[in-house]
Amino acid sequence: MLPMSSICRGVRLLAQQHVAVLEFSASCTRPSSSSSSSSLHVPPPACMLRPLEVPHRYLFGPGPSNVPPRVLAAGGRPIIGHLHPEMYEIMNNIKEGIRYAFQTTNHMTLAMSGSGHTAMECAVFNIVEPGESVLVSVNGVWGERVAEIADRMGAKVHTLVKAPGGYFTNQEIEKEISKHKPVLFFLTHGESSAGLAHPVDGIGDICRKYNCLFLVDSVASLGASPLLMDKQKIDILYTGSQKALNSPPGTAPISFNDRACQKLFNRKTKPVSYLLDMTHLSNYWGNDGEPARLYHHTGPVSGFFTLRESLAILAEKGLENSWKQHRQVAEYLWKGLEDLGLQLFIKDKDLRLPSVTTIAIPEGYDWKELLTYMMKHHQLEMTGGLGPSVGMVMRLGLMGYNCSMSNADKALAALSDALKHCKKHKA
Ligand SMILES: Cc1ncc(COP(=O)(O)O)c(C=O)c1O
Repeated sequence: MLPMSSICRGVRLLAQQHVAVLEFSASCTRPSSSSSSSSLHVPPPACMLRPLEVPHRYLFGPGPSNVPPRVLAAGGRPIIGHLHPEMYEIMNNIKEGIRYAFQTTNHMTLAMSGSGHTAMECAVFNIVEPGESVLVSVNGVWGERVAEIADRMGAKVHTLVKAPGGYFTNQEIEKEISKHKPVLFFLTHGESSAGLAHPVDGIGDICRKYNCLFLVDSVASLGASPLLMDKQKIDILYTGSQKALNSPPGTAPISFNDRACQKLFNRKTKPVSYLLDMTHLSNYWGNDGEPARLYHHTGPVSGFFTLRESLAILAEKGLENSWKQHRQVAEYLWKGLEDLGLQLFIKDKDLRLPSVTTIAIPEGYDWKELLTYMMKHHQLEMTGGLGPSVGMVMRLGLMGYNCSMSNADKALAALSDALKHCKKHKA
């Protein structure tokens, strides 16, 4: 039922436009125009004259995850100009927060205006020049994406491929790096499509030995699984805002060390993207030593407020406490899943991503039916696989604000209910 006030507002607006209202239906149909005096041939859509409706959902998939009230409130603060000194101060706070979360002292640290993919493209576009060799490890969808991005900008792309859930030994990585002599090696730390936390130790040393830069994706693992940018010799690291950080989607922290800056600021060609060009972004973020920070693009002001607050929550909690909490809740969840008779996709506990758990599809069940049942009866989101893991797994994420034993119980209860009610198909 629509509130009377919004119906009246809608009718009033339509009357002003001399547009006849045919119906307020549940679907987004357009009222037809019968006016001859209006210059508009597209009338206001009926759906736009109804109030915004957003349901409450338990976001227990691989992200976005639910956002705590404090972060939501930060996003509701009044907008200030993107070039105001107070905004620069907030951006400076964000840089400090990212340095803590990444465990780096890198000067060239900032947040992209955009989702995790923006950071992925920023890293590849700025580091690699057309014709240069890139090595991408692919053991799920994210390596596939980076290989595609590098290919589109004209790099010579080599891939090191395993089935979802597989991981690469340092010997395998060194063999391929020595063979292809890439300028960049890419690895996903938290492979959210497969639920794998990839080991990182020693890879930075291999990259340095062959004068290659080490790029790591931590979109699904930052704050949930231990990662130390400087100690583990990661040259470029990025993440997303909407996973364990619990911000709304739309901003993406990234950091480049001095080795990476050497390469990206000594290019022969300009990066293919103006928006993602680090020469401009480093000025916008006050990282280039210039006295003035100039207009480059209009940053997502509210998104930066929420990111700042999420990073503040992580700093208050402590990174190690956050890692510990994710591990403890994940262990509790994994035991609960096994008690339900389910099998975990990643067999080796030490390789499981604590933020996103992958469950092998139980035999005889249609995974889509299980997910639909949980959404319908529990307002609870889990998802299927992604890219090469589609049809192999269901994904259950408990990240940041959502990472608690009580939410693990809620997810287990929903799964148990779905398993009871969704008909088992004969294999
Ligand atoms: C590991 C990983 N990398 C990259 C991305 C892409 O991030 P976004 O969807 O914010 O662009 C995701 C998103 O789920 C992810 O899990």
